[in-house]
Amino acid sequence: MNILAPSILSADFWKLGEQIEEVQRAGAQYLHIDVMDGNFVPSVSYGSPVIRSLRKSTDFFFDVHLMVNHPETYIERMARCGADSINFHYEAAEDADSVIAQIRQTGKRVGITIKPETPVAVLEPYLDKVDMVLIMTVEPGKGGQKLIAGCLDKVTELRKMLDAKGLQVDIQVDGGITDDNVAMAIKAGANVIVAGSAVFLGDITENVTNLLKNM
Ligand code: DX5
Ligand code: ZN
Repeated sequence: MNILAPSILSADFWKLGEQIEEVQRAGAQYLHIDVMDGNFVPSVSYGSPVIRSLRKSTDFFFDVHLMVNHPETYIERMARCGADSINFHYEAAEDADSVIAQIRQTGKRVGITIKPETPVAVLEPYLDKVDMVLIMTVEPGKGGQKLIAGCLDKVTELRKMLDAKGLQVDIQVDGGITDDNVAMAIKAGANVIVAGSAVFLGDITENVTNLLKNM
């Protein structure tokens, strides 16, 4: 089953609760939460206090995308404040194996992410240890950018690697996904789709419905 994960980075924070309820009602299965430290990426977004506060009012699946340096210092906190899946950047980790083990220990789902310029081959040693791989389809750091089409080739390459190993790992894409290219991402081999501006700008229910229809 393919999963839609709206990214609240593009939500209207005045209406955050309302908008989260709306995407869930419209059929989205995950909520994508981008944690940025102003260091791994230029912007600062939100962190555990916000996630903890949202967790009080919803049982929605929280898919946390850590865009932070020293991810190992965030894992415990993310698990405690309500994350269901914790995804870290390969490029930010000194020892990816130990970050994976740390997430595993919390009982949360484990994700590893690569930026557009990082080759899929670096993931090879980790594929049998993670639940999801996120292939960034834009440079991480902000919403509303255009999808880098070449990144979808990396999705296909990764799906082939996983199939060859007989591994059932989710492939997530994040960045620049729209109604017009979501089918391409699925065809390339992705099954978890992040969309920020394509969900939250305009009519949210209509946007979610259209994306789901094309997936
Ligand atoms: C970007 C974030 C994304 C972002 C996607 O670094 O990881 O999750 O919200 O936004 P869109 O879908 O607008 O490209
Ligand atoms: Zn993200």
